[in-house]
Amino acid sequence: MTTHYDVRDGIAVLTLTNPPVNGLGLGTRRGVLEGLSRAQDDGTVRAIVITGAGRAFSGGADIREFNSPAANQEPTLPTVIAALENSTKPVVAAINATALGGGLELALGAHYRVAARKAQVGLPEVKLGILPGAGGTQRLPRAIGLELALNLIVSGTAVTAETLAATRLFDRLVETDVLAAAFELAQTAANQGAPYPRVRDWRVKHPNADGFIAFARMGVAAVAKNFPAPLKCVDAVAASVKPFEIGLAIERAAFSELVASTESKALRHAFFGERAASKVADIGDDITPRTIVKVGVIGAGTMGGGISMNFLNAGLPVTILESQPEALERGLATIRKNYEASAKRGKLSAAQVEQRMHLLTPTLSYADLTDADLIVEAVFEDYGVKQAVFEQLDAIAKPGAILASNTSTLDVNRIAAFTKRPQDVLGTHFFSPANVMKLLELVRGAETGKDVLATALGLAKKIGKTAVVSGVRDGFIGNRMIEQYSRQAGFLLEEGALPQQVDRAAEKFGFAMGPFRMGDLAGNDIGWAIRKRRAIEQPDVTYSKTADLVCELGRYGQKTGAGWYDYKAGDRAAYPSPVVDVLIVQHSQDLGLHRRTISDAEIVERLVYSLVNEGAKILEEGIAAKASDIDIVYLSGYGFPLWRGGPMFYADTVGLYNVLRAMRRYATGHQGAAWQPAPLLVQLAESGGQFNA
Ligand code: 3HC
Ligand code: NAI
Repeated sequence: MTTHYDVRDGIAVLTLTNPPVNGLGLGTRRGVLEGLSRAQDDGTVRAIVITGAGRAFSGGADIREFNSPAANQEPTLPTVIAALENSTKPVVAAINATALGGGLELALGAHYRVAARKAQVGLPEVKLGILPGAGGTQRLPRAIGLELALNLIVSGTAVTAETLAATRLFDRLVETDVLAAAFELAQTAANQGAPYPRVRDWRVKHPNADGFIAFARMGVAAVAKNFPAPLKCVDAVAASVKPFEIGLAIERAAFSELVASTESKALRHAFFGERAASKVADIGDDITPRTIVKVGVIGAGTMGGGISMNFLNAGLPVTILESQPEALERGLATIRKNYEASAKRGKLSAAQVEQRMHLLTPTLSYADLTDADLIVEAVFEDYGVKQAVFEQLDAIAKPGAILASNTSTLDVNRIAAFTKRPQDVLGTHFFSPANVMKLLELVRGAETGKDVLATALGLAKKIGKTAVVSGVRDGFIGNRMIEQYSRQAGFLLEEGALPQQVDRAAEKFGFAMGPFRMGDLAGNDIGWAIRKRRAIEQPDVTYSKTADLVCELGRYGQKTGAGWYDYKAGDRAAYPSPVVDVLIVQHSQDLGLHRRTISDAEIVERLVYSLVNEGAKILEEGIAAKASDIDIVYLSGYGFPLWRGGPMFYADTVGLYNVLRAMRRYATGHQGAAWQPAPLLVQLAESGGQFNA
């Protein structure tokens, strides 16, 4: 049973008991309706209190049910809410904790609301690409006013109940014992008798509703370009000044349209994908994570500094070790500078800056790391340097300390073998800037202990990262795929495109940055070094030489003031470079290629499908456990457009049959050997399957 019914002192108590967050799936909706009927029929019941068990009043509609027959099966949420509203006995919602989306809408259907001051309330539907579909866009403006409701609904922000204390939403706010307060109110209401207040009967009053809505619509249109939901929220909230039933019909129509949209499906995929990423098949609740109280970081360069900041922000003390005093000083100064920049932007107070700096201990001696529970290495990307560091760590780290490497390309198993405790070693691949980027690839070595991985997963959550587990393979998940994408970008130049066209097409598709602008930002020398290594390790894998030619001119990107683009001092804008354009055209000629006009559609297909194909190989090899993990890597670390749900989800929406057909077409063209389709892709395409089934 997902609802519990009992009667205490003439009050029927309906408790939502559908863990983890009392989602309002079909079973729960039925339970509420049955409870209501029972209470109406029971002559001893004078009033009804509805509340939630556990950590929530209700997290809203059961999102997993969307687009399934159960979603529209009666009783739907609007039916349940109407039944609450029309109850002949007074109904009090006792909001014990979180009331979001349909949860808050349910409470808005009650005659009275009592809430815990700290309970989080809001209508976050927009974040899932939909709008409140059970009267929220009509009742919330009636309860808290047009402007405040619009802001909350369009942004999806949750606030504490006490934030809304000045509105009509809550009849009582209490520190503790919400249920007792609700009981008291229920008795008073029953004593007073009908009619009981219904939010639907209240009027939305605003001196200039049309003007406000027009202004809001302009602002929302400017920021919600690829998401249809925010504007629909504005439309529905605007209708709250009309008669209730008309507004409700407008809301309902918009909800039905949005819930079927690809954007909403993509956002829901991301919501569940992010949560699923932290679940690893063989790591259950029986695995006890280790305790992390003190952290060590080796190397105070670009990554070591950013990595340290994550822990400091979470209140964990960090000891940072360098080999050279100057490097240590430089690293510390950079950390302070970053914090002070945050303080200037008003994100941190001066006291918070000092608090964080106080938690940081610089050192040149390994002896200061003997009590660290976790040590993250971020020294030069070189086996020799890593070996020296890990041998030292093995000698000094306390038993049970976790030893992590931030390597971006090296073999974590080989690094683990530098120690006599490979079970304690894993890769923690942060992305640059490490204090900003959400993504953290956790690289599970052949011998990494389950408790070590469980600890890292828990810690990632604590420091606000989205962790995805990867097996050991060069480039892990993200960089391995991006290499194929970069290869295609290079081949496109040889065939007729220019960097600015490729970037424009990629950015129009929705990538935060096209491949060449990204190269200039990250430094083209990094890819150059990788290609040099590949030439030895995998001589049959081909790359366009254009990137090497650009690097040979010293054009490494923004850091050298020139790369694929030209840059001007004090200006981050990328200007198309005549030098690079000539170089590219000349290179095509040298290859004997006749340059052709390449459509933006072809550019996008080749960039995205190269990611998809490599992603399929990664899945096949078990380097990633599930397709959604790959999508989360791309959404949180590589600027893949959120509304497209990640490369694997996007391929599913295009249809794998269509993806495969395009790949086979490209396989007959220039550098067609790069288009060897992954067997998993072929198998799924031929059987009508999907990556994210
Ligand atoms: N439906 C289905 N499952 C849900 C859910 C929902 N509305 N909300 C949370 N869950 C699941 C999560 O997937 C997760 O499942 P898992 O344990 O299997 O991974 C579990 O509940 C716990 O969730 P979190 O890990 O996110 O737990 P937190 O404590 O960090 O956060 C929360 C709890 C604030 C409720 C957060 O889960 C959340 O924001 N949920 C979504 C809320 C939301 O968007 N509600 C609107 C739904 S749409 C709607 O109501 C339509 C209506 O207008 C008609
Ligand atoms: P960096 O060159 O900025 O910093 C490395 C630091 O390590 C330097 O300050 C150096 O003095 C210090 N160091 C070198 N040897 C040392 C030793 N034996 N003991 C103590 N300190 C030592 O390099 P960066 O960019 O921070 O990279 C560090 C690691 O992170 C590398 O493995 C790199 O591949 C990886 N990485 C880098 C990313 C990036 O975008 N820069 C992204 C993800 C991973």
